[in-house]
Amino acid sequence: MRISIVGCGYVGLVTGGCLAAVGHQVNCADSDAERVRALVAGHIPIYEPHLEEVISRARSDKRIEFTGNLAAAVESAEAIFICVGTPPLENGEADLSAIDAVARVIATEARGPKLVIEKSTVPVRTGEQLRRALEVYGRTSGAKFQVVSNPEFLREGSSVCDFLHPDRIVVGVDEPAAAEKMREIYRSILERKFQCPVHNGACPPGAPPQFVVTTINSSELIKHASNSFLALKISYANQLADLCERLGADVEEVTRAMGLDPRIGPQFLRAGIGFGGFCFPKDIQAFYRLAERAGMDFMLLKEAERINKSRIDQFVEKARRALWVLKGKQVSVLGLSFKPNTDDIRFAPALEIVRRLLAEGAMVHAYDPQGMKKTQAEFPTVKYCENAYDAVSGADAVLLLTEWPEFRELDWARVHGMMVRPLVLDGRNLLDPGKMRGLGFEYHCIGRPD
Ligand code: UGA
Repeated sequence: MRISIVGCGYVGLVTGGCLAAVGHQVNCADSDAERVRALVAGHIPIYEPHLEEVISRARSDKRIEFTGNLAAAVESAEAIFICVGTPPLENGEADLSAIDAVARVIATEARGPKLVIEKSTVPVRTGEQLRRALEVYGRTSGAKFQVVSNPEFLREGSSVCDFLHPDRIVVGVDEPAAAEKMREIYRSILERKFQCPVHNGACPPGAPPQFVVTTINSSELIKHASNSFLALKISYANQLADLCERLGADVEEVTRAMGLDPRIGPQFLRAGIGFGGFCFPKDIQAFYRLAERAGMDFMLLKEAERINKSRIDQFVEKARRALWVLKGKQVSVLGLSFKPNTDDIRFAPALEIVRRLLAEGAMVHAYDPQGMKKTQAEFPTVKYCENAYDAVSGADAVLLLTEWPEFRELDWARVHGMMVRPLVLDGRNLLDPGKMRGLGFEYHCIGRPD
């Protein structure tokens, strides 16, 4: 099928690259001319495992193109995925102006019937507004539009794999024919019949994805409800960690055993310095704002958000307690991105911690495998190091803030010898407390007995 993607951000590129990889003809459009120039020149502006190979293979198979000409992209496609950003407004609600602008282009440029798919994360009832906007803006063109909601559940750092091997594909429609078109788009993924660019023919076994057809309103709600529930789970684990600290229990042992109950499940119970990224913090807020507008106080979500914000205060307080005075101390930060395997630093807990350390007069040395370039502009006074060993050299304390696997593999005995004071605060429970203390470190972590 001929598919256009509008918006070449992270979701647009993964969607476009993967749909091309499973055999569609994809045209990716963006109004940012510089971004398009970079993409046409073969430069992928984000770090996302496998994305570069997927797009470069699609490009050599002539299955993907990039353009700044939105009108042409709309006209040439049967199906248009809207993947533009919906950043938070000051009041926490989602800014839908980019979606409105795209609706205008689609409505005025379409000459034939189009399937218009909202992939961007949007509040419930956006589909209704989108349908209305398409009708109003396109009243003279006579083109027919079918609106579909198709939320994404991609995790940064594993999104290519998530797209090609999803557990569910949710489509919100208001006519069965639209659901059939969506099934056609995803057929090879649903039937697991494609040459997988990630696993090269050796995909891990698993049940085929569920194809879930709902109303548009339900589909939109499923996205916010899922993200908010995962965020709740993390805040629960974090409060549990605080209780474990007070009672001398180990949160890792507790959550491991809890997670064995299939009704609870093991995922998203990792305690630490809290959730960050461009999704959970903004989605949880957008969701309770939406509830407020509907006349309901979704207190549970507000509490999850409050707990999450307090993680930073608590962790900085831990550092203060261990170091006594922060001013003038060299604090080495390992990890800046909001999670491993991404260069995304948006709403990263690590950044807020760095901000507090600098405000208190600490000298921050930092290393992150991918996140430093984006951090430099925001924190020019931080010393950015070539590798983790450079960063920890001469440190009064090491703060481990993102659980990149390479930090676990460091030669910690060597690190011990390089620090002025062998103090490690592990904000992600990445390291083995027994091993660290055995090496002579003063080691503090989250929810595990000191
Ligand atoms: C999240 C969802 O997991 C995706 O399903 C969704 O598609 C995406 O948002 C989105 O809305 O686009 P993502 O933000 O990439 O994906 O990252 P997650 O893996 O969910 O992690 C979010 C944050 O929670 C990170 O800061 C991570 O460190 C933290 N986290 C995660 C914990 O603190 N503990 C955990 O147990 C799990």
